[in-house]
Amino acid sequence: MAKKPTNNQEPDTTGHEWDGIQEYNNPLPRWWLWLFYATIVWGLWYVIAYPAWPLINEATAGYKGWSTRANVAAEIEAAREANAEINARLASVELEAIPADEELNTYAVSAGAAVYRTWCAQCHGSGAAGVKAGGYPNLLDNDWLWGGTLEDIHYTIAHGIRNEEDPDARWSQMPAYGDILDSEGIDQVVNYVMSLSGTPQDAQAAAAGEEIFLDNCAACHGEAGGGDIYQGAPNLADAIWLYGGDYETIRETVTYSRFGVMPPMGGADLSEAETRAVAVYVHQLGGGE
Ligand code: HEC
Ligand code: HEC
Repeated sequence: MAKKPTNNQEPDTTGHEWDGIQEYNNPLPRWWLWLFYATIVWGLWYVIAYPAWPLINEATAGYKGWSTRANVAAEIEAAREANAEINARLASVELEAIPADEELNTYAVSAGAAVYRTWCAQCHGSGAAGVKAGGYPNLLDNDWLWGGTLEDIHYTIAHGIRNEEDPDARWSQMPAYGDILDSEGIDQVVNYVMSLSGTPQDAQAAAAGEEIFLDNCAACHGEAGGGDIYQGAPNLADAIWLYGGDYETIRETVTYSRFGVMPPMGGADLSEAETRAVAVYVHQLGGGE
């Protein structure tokens, strides 16, 4: 603040004047000036100590070598070390013993949920309810193509289904009946399949389809259409559909067959602890046997 003149003496002015208002020429307050110098010194130190000047691909590193990326890497490493012991235990105990071990089970479910979001949600859906249009099965229900025990689920995840990468992948193939049955025969067997879960489109065709079903389909899907987990053949009698249960979709399945592929997740993508964690996670979603 400009000092007020205490006597009648004329104050020192800069000589600037606007409409009779003069600008006093008082020095800046000392505390302000020192603060100003301090910010300059601090600024210079900061430029030398920390990443500051942008270059083409990166920035000057600064003598402290500080980097957000390195900090994140260190945090991840610390978390990995903190979990190393429980991961080793998860990967080595009897698979079926995990749900009974409360600490291990809690850890597996939360770690498995994270693995699921990263590796599985894009096919099976974020809520694990599956996607019919792609033949991605619902993992929440009690209907299993390949079996719902922890062992079964773990195997499916580790090796995948009908993929070329893993020689131990689960494998089976339904024939395309467009080459085997005539159009009427397909119509009849499709109606018969619909009747198994109570919704035939044409009761007469359905009755005629029974024999075709027993001759062609029962070996995989079972005489009563209950399915077979050893061949991944879906249950056709439970009104739960992998691809869809309307006439058109079933007709398409029977004519051209399907070939649902799941990549193997064990090995390259997931560690054994992660594979087990996500198996436990899926198993406890509701339909685990
Ligand atoms: C590229 C898509 C894809 C990804 C990614 C994928 N799956 Fe699958 N999964 C499938 C398909 C397709 C099937 C059904 C194959 C069939 O028709 O038998 C399947 C089947 C399954 C089954 C068997 C279901 C049953 O009824 O027996 C389980 C369990 C499963 N997946 C779990 C997982 C888990 C856990 C992950 C992540 C670690 C995962 N899947 C990632 C496509 C995928
Ligand atoms: C060699 C074994 C085998 C035979 C024989 C077979 N299927 Fe299948 N079927 C399967 C398998 C395996 C799947 C699952 C395919 C996939 O997921 O890619 C399937 C899927 C289906 C589906 C889809 C179910 C859904 O939930 O969407 C229908 C419908 C079906 N079969 C009907 C038939 C009919 C009708 C016949 C006889 C005319 C037949 N199948 C013969 C193995 C067989």
